[in-house]
Amino acid sequence: TEFVSANDLAALMNVSVNEVIKVCMQLGMFVSINQRLDAEAITIIADEFGYSVEFITSEDEQALEVTIEENEEDLVDRAPIVTIMGHVDHGKTSLLDYIRNANVTAGEAGGITQHIGAYSVKTEGGRTVTFLDTPGHEAFTAMRARGAKVTDVVIIVVAADDSVMPQTKEAINHAQAAGSPIIIALNKIDKPGANPDKVREELAQMNILVEEWGGKYQSQEVSAKTGAGIPDLLEKVLLEAELLELKANPDRKAVGTVIEASLDKGRGYVATVLVQTGTLKIGDVVLAGSHYGRVKAMTDHRGRKMKEAGPSTPVQLLGLDGAPQAGDKFQVMESEREAREIASNRAQLQREQSLRTRKHITLDEIGRRL
Ligand code: GTP
Ligand code: MG
Repeated sequence: TEFVSANDLAALMNVSVNEVIKVCMQLGMFVSINQRLDAEAITIIADEFGYSVEFITSEDEQALEVTIEENEEDLVDRAPIVTIMGHVDHGKTSLLDYIRNANVTAGEAGGITQHIGAYSVKTEGGRTVTFLDTPGHEAFTAMRARGAKVTDVVIIVVAADDSVMPQTKEAINHAQAAGSPIIIALNKIDKPGANPDKVREELAQMNILVEEWGGKYQSQEVSAKTGAGIPDLLEKVLLEAELLELKANPDRKAVGTVIEASLDKGRGYVATVLVQTGTLKIGDVVLAGSHYGRVKAMTDHRGRKMKEAGPSTPVQLLGLDGAPQAGDKFQVMESEREAREIASNRAQLQREQSLRTRKHITLDEIGRRL
């Protein structure tokens, strides 16, 4: 009997169908997007992505349905993961910096802020929010293209002394395509020329009607310079997040996404990863894209050592044998041998793909010359 298609299975697991097809190829199964898969295949593929599969038999029809889910009682609340996007110079970095510095708790003081791609802060109310510091929406798009759905809420920053700009629109489109709730931050409200109503008007023209005007989008006037409105903005993020009922199971092997990775002269390969479910621990064997390794050390964004990292926690980790790409999934594996095998299969696949792409370009160029 065949059940869901590769495409449906990908959707159930919140990964791209390409990822599923890739994994199938590594396992020696060649499937197409709409091909239906049998129980064995589904179980094996789901396992690769860290899911267990439950086949539910319905009495009256012989129909079978697949649900991939964790047990309700294993799930606990997790912090929302937030990305700030918007037009050049509208204040994304300033806003992130303000939030990071204003929410330093006593215990954290003294740590040197590292500019890593993700960090968590505690709000005044004692709740945690995780921010992804993507260098632009290219990174966001690249991650999405790789099947990574990491952002729960998107903050769109618009400078109130400027206008809705092309990149503002693009950012809104990206957030909507990803199905992420949007909160509008009307920034630079401290400036004499600030005219937030003009921006609200422009947003309304593109069907983004803010709550104050009877629409569904929360918005907040802020200043990344003075900090005005920022606690309220964080409250609105938490409110939006509450509706999403974000949960994860901390008592399982960690699964998450690579945010960035690079080679550090002194420390070797350093990867910033976001744990999405499960708990990552020192000594765990991690498979990340086409790389693997044992976690030697973990640090937070202030360079403080960590022993473990639960859901929605970003960490910098040492121990991988290379730099995976932003948006690559990572998962903790049972054995180093298994991790090495899959990593090397993936690396092989990438080499073949890049060869194919190169060939393609050559043909194109020949065509152009003719
Ligand atoms: P890109 O990364 O280049 O796209 O820009 P960005 O969106 O990160 O903007 P950034 O935070 O670099 O801010 C751009 C300029 O606006 C800087 O000179 C900031 O100091 C200034 N700025 C940002 N927020 C505010 C604000 O709330 N008030 C005032 N007065 N200036 C601000
Ligand atoms: Mg910036």
